[in-house]
Amino acid sequence: MAGYFRQAIASKLSRLLIQSGTIQESQSETLVTRLAAVVKVKKISKKHSLWDDQFQINFKDLNLLFNENIFANVTLKEKILSSDSQSPSCNEVRIGSNDKFLQFGFDPKIIAENVLSAVRNEGSKFGYSSHLHQVAIGDDGGIRLIEPPNDKTVVVEYSSPNIAKPFHAGHLRSTIIGNFVSNLYEGLGYKVIRINYLGDWGTQFGLLAAGFRKYGCEEKLQEDALQHLFQVYVKVNKETADEVAANQTANANSMYQQGQRTFRKMEHGDKDYLELWQKFRHLSIEEYKKMYKRLGISFTVHHGESMYAKSAQNLLKDLQCSGLLQTDQKTGVGFVDVSDERNSSRVTLSKSDGTTLYLTRDLSAAKDRKKKYNFHKIHYVVDNGQKSHFHNLKVVLGKMKENWALTTGPHFHIGFGRVLGMSTRKGEVVFMKDILDEAQAIMLQKMRETKTSKDVSDEDAVADILGVSSILVQDLKERRNRDYKFSWEKCLNFKADSGVFLQYAHARLNSLQLTCGVKLTDQIDYSFLLEEDAFKLVLQICRYDEVLRDSMQTFEPCVVVQYLFQLAHLSNQAHRVLLIKGQPEDIAQARLLLFHCTQQVLASGLRLVGCLPLDKM
Ligand code: ARG
Repeated sequence: MAGYFRQAIASKLSRLLIQSGTIQESQSETLVTRLAAVVKVKKISKKHSLWDDQFQINFKDLNLLFNENIFANVTLKEKILSSDSQSPSCNEVRIGSNDKFLQFGFDPKIIAENVLSAVRNEGSKFGYSSHLHQVAIGDDGGIRLIEPPNDKTVVVEYSSPNIAKPFHAGHLRSTIIGNFVSNLYEGLGYKVIRINYLGDWGTQFGLLAAGFRKYGCEEKLQEDALQHLFQVYVKVNKETADEVAANQTANANSMYQQGQRTFRKMEHGDKDYLELWQKFRHLSIEEYKKMYKRLGISFTVHHGESMYAKSAQNLLKDLQCSGLLQTDQKTGVGFVDVSDERNSSRVTLSKSDGTTLYLTRDLSAAKDRKKKYNFHKIHYVVDNGQKSHFHNLKVVLGKMKENWALTTGPHFHIGFGRVLGMSTRKGEVVFMKDILDEAQAIMLQKMRETKTSKDVSDEDAVADILGVSSILVQDLKERRNRDYKFSWEKCLNFKADSGVFLQYAHARLNSLQLTCGVKLTDQIDYSFLLEEDAFKLVLQICRYDEVLRDSMQTFEPCVVVQYLFQLAHLSNQAHRVLLIKGQPEDIAQARLLLFHCTQQVLASGLRLVGCLPLDKM
């Protein structure tokens, strides 16, 4: 909704600039849009007072916009300021003077009415709809138009665990950040293809298949596939590590060689090994699905590296024909030369025995996705450890004349930092299921201890949602590139800024509406929302579209989460002082609408970050 006011300010200012002769009528075509981009919404602070200006423009930004200091001319500034006070047609905006900023304020009642009726009319679309056709200032200070979605398809690849290896914290981060990015795009009207790209191919599967013949147990596999495959995986890896240490990897009977041989067989279509591998894959996916369900995560498709084993081979042949792929005479590996003026460098695409690599399969997969989905953008949500992998992917795609890869923008790879110390309290190896179980158990215990949660009928389900919300929010509240330390205490705290805290604020708003004894009508007198605690809440709701826009620029979920914390705090504060029960009808109506809208926005934000909003807890 702030976008609406920014637009209003821009129209007004553009009119004044034309009237004063500073801008020629002919230059005015995109003027409003560009001006709207430099209007900033002021954050709500403790000191905020009702009649403070809510918006401002920094002169510096204006100068940048016009490439000159149009306000160097003091008389112009005065003219603009004075013309405003004499202009009855725009009397809802006042321009304050300040040496650094132009400041604008609307009549608070007009803001309250516009914002709250928009929430009521637009429902879950609120914040997303006014986002369209807006502009933003890029990192370079330039103006960028945010393109309307118009049926555009976006591919977001996230989660992408490796079957037979544990789903670690990095995969969890990828899963929840990728889900957030997808939700954001979907909210804005894009068609989103969510891909889970399983790590299900490569030498380690040769090793695992060979290892399973030695250490595996069919019964255990059926019982808990992930756990058992992991046990085998650990054993064979230990064995090969020992072989490496003892310089025995060249021995034909070594586990290392068996693994290599088995994978070569698999790449050449060995039926038995492929059947075994299929079983590992199937059972692992079934396990993962259970976990995704708990996390509220879904995918359009499950792809995997194995899908590209063949086409990656063909790709190598094509690259060889076109002369892009060269062979290192000494080692026999195949590579593409990606040197530029400054650096000489090579990207390896095949091993000396001709088998493909992770990157080769990614190249093949990228081409296939472009062909299948003809996407407008693609994002790979993968930890920062793979930064150079995705850099290489982009560069080699460019060499292959897949030009889209070079124009896809800075967020081709959406990276993130590491989670430190995520383990169950017993400190065992991390299996995601154990983390979720533990969060659920702690929440259940806390719910039983607090009196407020007496009337929840399905305690287990609610505790699970709370546990998941807490884990998600703890993760998403940090800038994604930062490493963070996992803490059970912070994560499951009812009072501090946590997922439980947000859920609690939401459930409270819900129960307030059910128990206040007032039914919302269309007769709202917005002048009853001009108390400080009410109006701050209105302003916070007004900012929601700005927050969505900002997080779309940076793909930073923390922008949304921090916003929700502030919304919840303002809501709790308002809840304490703005009573509904026992108040005159018009006051009660206005307040009820305010809380109703707060709940709508809180729910919308919770869903965006991947939490199912709870009505009761
Ligand atoms: N399975 C990989 C891993 O766990 C992540 C895959 C990332 N996606 C990709 N297209 N390479 O390391």
